[in-house]
Amino acid sequence: MSEIRELPGTRSFERVGAHTHIKGLGLDENLRAVRVKDGMVGQERAREAAGLVVEMIKQGKLAGKCIILAGPPGTGKTALAVAISRELGPNVPFLQLSASEIYSAERKKTEVLIEAMRKCIGVEIHEMREVYEGEVVDLKINMVPHPYNPYQKVPESVRIRLRTTEEERTVEAGSHIAEQIIAYGVTEGCVIQIDAETGRVVNLGICADSDKAKLYEIDARRRVPRPTGKVKKQKEFVYTLTLADLDEIHARRRRGGLFSLLFGLGEESREIDPEVRAMVDEQVKRMVDEGRAFIHPGVLFIDDAHMLDLEAFSFIGRALESELSPIIILATNRGFARIRGTDIESPFGFPLDLIDRAVIITTEEYDAETIKEILRIRAREEGINIGEEALDELTEIGARTSLRYAVQLLSLAAQNARVAKRDVVEIEDVRRVDKLFMDVGEAAEYLHKYEEKMLKH
Ligand SMILES: Nc1ncnc2c1ncn2[C@@H]1O[C@H](COP(=O)(O)OP(=O)(O)O)[C@@H](O)[C@H]1O
Ligand SMILES: [Mg+2]
Repeated sequence: MSEIRELPGTRSFERVGAHTHIKGLGLDENLRAVRVKDGMVGQERAREAAGLVVEMIKQGKLAGKCIILAGPPGTGKTALAVAISRELGPNVPFLQLSASEIYSAERKKTEVLIEAMRKCIGVEIHEMREVYEGEVVDLKINMVPHPYNPYQKVPESVRIRLRTTEEERTVEAGSHIAEQIIAYGVTEGCVIQIDAETGRVVNLGICADSDKAKLYEIDARRRVPRPTGKVKKQKEFVYTLTLADLDEIHARRRRGGLFSLLFGLGEESREIDPEVRAMVDEQVKRMVDEGRAFIHPGVLFIDDAHMLDLEAFSFIGRALESELSPIIILATNRGFARIRGTDIESPFGFPLDLIDRAVIITTEEYDAETIKEILRIRAREEGINIGEEALDELTEIGARTSLRYAVQLLSLAAQNARVAKRDVVEIEDVRRVDKLFMDVGEAAEYLHKYEEKMLKH
């Protein structure tokens, strides 16, 4: 049975990615980490742990769970989360959110959180519909004078001859369908679908076996095979939406009516009524019970989660207990720290009851060899040709300061080489940019030196 798939548009797009080189977790078939694979290097324990998490998510066994990624800055926590999303593939919703994003002036933070969570739950809906489907072999649109303006012609009815591999059949339809036929540019040779109940017309593309398709060598229209079976048939459609999409559809329908006709749909950043969400949940649960829908819990990744406050944490804790909840991954680089909004000190700056419920994956600092390998991969990713000596120098800087600083210097050194009209990055490029820019340690030293002269406020 053929199907129409709509993929959830929940993935955020990174243009100049610090993590574009990450293609997956780099595990073998026994879920053991290969030292260098899929753009990942070292950090084997964390990667294998993440591999198990991915397996459980795929089997739907981890809904409503919480995973904490903890480790010092620049040890690959975000990289690990990106790798998890790559492993899950495009059909599992994955949303990345920085904790600071929930503190928006226009909306309540719980509203931002609940919407984010609902964007992470995919609902695969199966629907059987009766359709007429086939290649258009003959098309006659009957035009009549407009009732109020006899000089203008409007479509009154249409007669279409449809062909499948099995039969040919002529259907006749009224103006509603005739108008769509014109609007969607349906001509002979197109493969179309008409919903028997609603009369919705879909132009699927040009039939690959028709004469029309052979007319032009270059043709931007999509080529589709001639449909099989009968012209009129039951067809299964599969849509994958998220709970947030369903909320939006229902809210819009409600908001509709006279007001929306007269005044449009109202302002953009409105909040969705809790009643609408409850209704959507009910409906989804019913469809799941009837076997017409399947739930795919996705992943909500909250980076720098130590920025969340107690209220947000308690909200997340509560949400984890509800039936329709995604897997939540929280990343933090804090040790013992104050929970925001309180005076309480706690590991990671997270409340204890949340930690209690989570599994914790820790990342460790990299040794020089791993840093070198990551820099090599980054160089390849950015199309940088770097000499072995220069790479050693950069590695040494990375081990002394931080991996992130070394990654930054790599791009800067490449720019320096380009300015000097050289193709290969040499040790002098690295030394020069290291002198021109500061790492955090140097910046702190500088601030101490000029403490008196810098402004305080
Ligand atoms: N194990 C690794 N393999 C490959 N690249 C890594 C690895 N760990 C970190 N990186 C890269 O190093 C940089 C810093 O890591 P990042 O994930 O941002 O650290 P964190 O989120 O822990 O602060 C990023 O560009 C990241 O893609
Ligand atoms: Mg990070």
